[in-house]
Amino acid sequence: MSSSVISLSNAYIYQKDNLILSDVNFSIEKGEFVYLIGKTGSGKSSLLKTLYADLFLEKGSGTVVDYKLEEIKYKEIPFLRRKIGIIFQDFQLLSDRNIFQNLKFFMEAMGWEDKYKIEERIVEVLELVGLPEVLSKMPHQLSGGEQQRIAIARALLNHPEILLADEPTGNLDPEKSIEILKLFFKINEVSETAVLMATHELDLIERFPRRTLYCDNGAITDLTDNS
Ligand SMILES: Nc1ncnc2c1ncn2[C@@H]1O[C@H](COP(=O)(O)OP(=O)(O)OP(=O)(O)O)[C@@H](O)[C@H]1O
Ligand SMILES: [Mg+2]
Repeated sequence: MSSSVISLSNAYIYQKDNLILSDVNFSIEKGEFVYLIGKTGSGKSSLLKTLYADLFLEKGSGTVVDYKLEEIKYKEIPFLRRKIGIIFQDFQLLSDRNIFQNLKFFMEAMGWEDKYKIEERIVEVLELVGLPEVLSKMPHQLSGGEQQRIAIARALLNHPEILLADEPTGNLDPEKSIEILKLFFKINEVSETAVLMATHELDLIERFPRRTLYCDNGAITDLTDNS
């Protein structure tokens, strides 16, 4: 049995009628860490959006956890998203409530009901991202790097099999970027969560090399593929 958490085969990625990427073929195994690079407008976000079913896969086939992207129904999309964690450049925390309420709100929306289990899991994920004491703080009381840690904690709440991160360090200074990258490595190692991270920061990749997919000229190539 395959242990792929993502698999695309002859996939074509569109934005409306515009073809962005052709004949995309790759898979990501359970517990893998993969960078996604390419210049601005090359299609990194479009690829990630297809993987979390914000863009429909019009042509070719793709599987993300147990869902077939070319067949997924609108009402199944929230269930797919419960199995993946998504992280953006802007942290997208709710500014009108504290960190505990932010995470609780998200869990209730995902179907968590038991108050004690909710509290227990919130404490666990905050511990994992190294911010155990921010429960009652408001988002604006945290630094950018700390807010991104909370966004990562939020992405982890449901024990996802994969994290999809779209330039998660794009708003952070180099030192904070490295801390966030190291946090992704830690999560990847501790919980065997696969990570696919789009980034512009080639110096980070050079310093911390991992498997790298390159988006260019309407295609994706695996820079680490020797075959
Ligand atoms: N909502 C949209 N509607 C139509 N076209 C779009 C939309 N979003 C992106 N595009 C186009 O799709 C192409 C790929 O954009 P995409 O955002 O995937 O690139 P990217 O690699 O993520 O770039 P960046 O590094 O700037 O984030 C671009 O030509 C862009 O103009
Ligand atoms: Mg992008």
